[in-house]
Amino acid sequence: MRTLSILLVISIICSEFIPVSGSQANANSSGNSDFCLQLLQQMTLEEKIGQLHQLSLRGDIGEETKKAIRAGKVGSVINIEPRYMNQVQELAEKESRLKIPLLYGRDVIHGYKTIFPIPLGQAATFNPGIVREGARIAATEAYSEGIRWTFAPMLDISKDARWGRIAESLGEDPYLSSVLGAAMIEGFQGKSLADKYSIAACAKHFVGYGAAEGGRDYNSTNIPPVLMHNVYLAPFRAANQAGAASFMASFNDNDGIPLTGDTELLRNVLKNKWQFPGVVVSDWNAINEMIKHGFATNRTEAALKALQAGIDIDMMSSAYTNELQQLIAADSSLMTLLDDAVLRVLRMKQQLGLFEKPYNEANPSLLYAASHLESARQAAEESFVLLKNNNLLPLKPEWNTLAVIGPMADAPHDQLGTWVFDGEKDKTITPLRALREYTGRKLRILYEPGLEYTRDLSRKGLKKAVETAQKSDIVLLFLGEESILSGEAHSMADLNLVGLQSELVAEISKTGKPLVLVVMAGRPLTIEKEIEQAGAVLYGFHPGTMGGPAIARILLGDVNPSGKLPVSFPRHTGQIPVHYNHNNTGRPAPEKLPSLYEIPREAKQTSLGNTSFYLDYGFRPLFPFGYGLSYTRFEYSDFKITRNELHSSGEISFSVKLRNTGNYTGTEVVQLYVQDVVASVARPVKELKRFERVQLKPGEQKEVVFTLITDDLSFYGRDLVKTIEKGLFRTWVGTDSSQGLQLEFKY
Ligand code: NOJ
Repeated sequence: MRTLSILLVISIICSEFIPVSGSQANANSSGNSDFCLQLLQQMTLEEKIGQLHQLSLRGDIGEETKKAIRAGKVGSVINIEPRYMNQVQELAEKESRLKIPLLYGRDVIHGYKTIFPIPLGQAATFNPGIVREGARIAATEAYSEGIRWTFAPMLDISKDARWGRIAESLGEDPYLSSVLGAAMIEGFQGKSLADKYSIAACAKHFVGYGAAEGGRDYNSTNIPPVLMHNVYLAPFRAANQAGAASFMASFNDNDGIPLTGDTELLRNVLKNKWQFPGVVVSDWNAINEMIKHGFATNRTEAALKALQAGIDIDMMSSAYTNELQQLIAADSSLMTLLDDAVLRVLRMKQQLGLFEKPYNEANPSLLYAASHLESARQAAEESFVLLKNNNLLPLKPEWNTLAVIGPMADAPHDQLGTWVFDGEKDKTITPLRALREYTGRKLRILYEPGLEYTRDLSRKGLKKAVETAQKSDIVLLFLGEESILSGEAHSMADLNLVGLQSELVAEISKTGKPLVLVVMAGRPLTIEKEIEQAGAVLYGFHPGTMGGPAIARILLGDVNPSGKLPVSFPRHTGQIPVHYNHNNTGRPAPEKLPSLYEIPREAKQTSLGNTSFYLDYGFRPLFPFGYGLSYTRFEYSDFKITRNELHSSGEISFSVKLRNTGNYTGTEVVQLYVQDVVASVARPVKELKRFERVQLKPGEQKEVVFTLITDDLSFYGRDLVKTIEKGLFRTWVGTDSSQGLQLEFKY
């Protein structure tokens, strides 16, 4: 049965091509239906295993590696510098027996040279269009330097800001992550993988990694099946539907099974049930790490478990290279699994057109192209979230003398964010530079950082910063995190501002000058106290190359902020996980909570309502998912069901009127949430189902229409089958996840 299904996969993998003659791999492969299969038949066991071996090449290539490539023992390479690419490719192309080209991969996460906001910032745009364009630009620049495979997008649902990799995520919501993740894949891969400037995407990390215990990176997860299917798998399902060429298995063990060896999720769900036709790559050295997990006794067993589970490419553990030969000698039935894995790799290379065009045709003129910088600026502008504004922003025309203070005002390296191997700080425009070069009106900029960098513990600059603030009309205080404080292996237990930044805020606020905080960080920070001391707060997740001009344009009113939070902001780290789409519990917290300090001394054991909240921090976040202000005001009205055909066509439509009642043109992200009130398993209090960015001029009104289908109202129950159940649904439309106009309907 298993052999049969593998043969089926093999035939699907190679079915689209018409045969041509020629035995070597670099003979014309496009249009050859049996090309991959024919090639496979010519391969020795060693050559097959070679296709599954990925290694990292940094700097000059050594003799050992050259030998391995000539012998067909390497299939793909990570981290190679462009200047070595063609020379190394020649070893495979000219000197190996079958001349199968190498595939070059790299972590191109949020831009190659032109750096876009970190993925969490891109998620704050709620704009699939700009996210797609960002990935397209990243692909174009990366392709022009020979890269054909990126390890992005990261689709791990992230509700824990302690986890450093929240920066690389699209936030806490499965629907938003699905829509934006699919957009990224479309951007990277273009219309066809074979097209110039298309690179293969990799949906990672499959699956659950974002739920790492305590937010500590690489940690175990404990996600039960219903939650796994409804929440954590959702963006990966969307990625498969969007045609992601590859998936990466995650480091974590879920409920005791490392994903690298999880046959149920990798082989049964992803490859069999979802019919994913592409390549599954392990994470870095993850096959070996199953030994440390305590899931494999030695490398031989680890290699066996990974192959059985469905890992096709071994990234950097050499377990396949060293162990598969003897494993197959002992059990020849493993050959079918091996052949399936090899065919997937050959197929990806074929789809990328590598057999025809193995060499890198560098086109440096595309790097940092003006249109790329323009898009990066737009993405950054849309990614900033206005958290507070007591009428300070946009800056009033009479405020000409601006004090620019803080460690992030002129930190070109740090505003780029995590996972930037190729973007250069010299090409980055900081807010200080953008404000100094601003031509829209005359400004006098007084710059005094106060702190050299965010972790600076020296007080020596504070006095000068205060003096500078005193000489200004208004203070712009730039705070946040250096890029190295978030990302992989950079988890934090405390989410307050690091270094003496809080002290800097306190000292500046004592001057009584109007104070605007601009924060650039890799995650939500617990800045309630600092927000109270400021008149306005603009929050950005590391905004990339063009962060400076984006900030200047927002502060000066050329751009009206429209970003919305893709993740709930906790008031205190102890509240984590705090997310909007939680279940209700049998004892939900009431609107009004008792205060810690109202409880009498020596009070008798008392119920205090016996509900689910913290005595000191309640249950609400500092800011809810979907939150973000504008310089204008939006009014929602007339929310209604315009068509209910759930039982016939399977569709239901809603409309709402949105009016701009303020004085600025602005863009609102209209959000539609749904609750399945009673079901066979308890459902979340609310789930985002649709959103739309709507731009309106002052006084303008628009009707916004959303259509849902039964699939949107369905969920995975105990049997893990997706179904819609009869009963009552509630729906809200509004400006964020905590409020909105409400309706009910029945299915
Ligand atoms: C480990 C990371 O978890 C993964 O996301 C990345 O793609 C690989 N290293 C390769 O750098």
